Amino acid sequence: MALSASSDSTRAITPRDIRARKGHTPLVCLTAYTTPIAKLVDGHCDIVLVGDSVGMVLHGLPSTLGVTLDMMIMHGRAVRRGLERALMVVDMPFGAYEESPEQAFRNAAKLMAETGCAAVKLEGGESMAETVRFLVARGVPVMGHVGLTPQAVNGFGGYRVQGRGADADRIQRDAAAVADAGAFSVVLEKMPEPLARRITAEVAIPTIGIGASPACDGQILVVDDMLGLFGAFKPKFVKRYAALADEAETAIAAYAREVRERSFPAAGHVFEDSARDTGSRKSGGGDAA
Ligand code: KIV
Repeated sequence: MALSASSDSTRAITPRDIRARKGHTPLVCLTAYTTPIAKLVDGHCDIVLVGDSVGMVLHGLPSTLGVTLDMMIMHGRAVRRGLERALMVVDMPFGAYEESPEQAFRNAAKLMAETGCAAVKLEGGESMAETVRFLVARGVPVMGHVGLTPQAVNGFGGYRVQGRGADADRIQRDAAAVADAGAFSVVLEKMPEPLARRITAEVAIPTIGIGASPACDGQILVVDDMLGLFGAFKPKFVKRYAALADEAETAIAAYAREVRERSFPAAGHVFEDSARDTGSRKSGGGDAA
């Protein structure tokens, strides 16, 4: 059985391929915001999401609410340059789609035209179903996002688990509404495991879990979280597969020590008084004798 969403390993994965993966091999999804990280994840992922988490992860914002369409376009373009195969999805930022289906279409079309993404993601369930239907009918593939929707943090009063007790029915209706409206997949974020399992069994489109259930049709994490790059922040649903921030800090401390001791730069890092030695990284002269 194919390990990735498309059985043809040479062509780019489409929203249609993802839709067809319901109930098959789990879909592997990560976020990316830059070209180098996009290049790293492309060979391993079915979906790469340019998430509005970029605002908190790379720009130091306190929430995703301050993320703009221009920020998503800038990071989307960077990620596009790093991908060959994975499906690229770009988040619609807060304020770019809630006003009306027409506003959502205008901004989704701008995101697609200016980044080259093949699909957009937007947050919300029943209240956004009409917008999802409007976009899909006009050629914009949509990934839904229900459960904890971080753009609604103020309404929720924090980043707490959604769908406990009587609230489960609301989340279930939300997932069903975006699926019925034509979304090709839906993110289930931070909800009780049995609820995510039940939604996955009931909706016809792939569910992508984050703090949800191993029964979901796929999983997504913020790449900086799973690489241990995002400081001390570690929600329960994140597994750290590396501790790169610790490694980076050790390296930076070693550099600072060597600069202060004058042991860096050493003889191998400086240039001879020779015409061949251009010193330009672009010309490849950085390694010239
Ligand atoms: O913005 C984001 O990174 C997301 C994922 C966590 C699903 O929406």
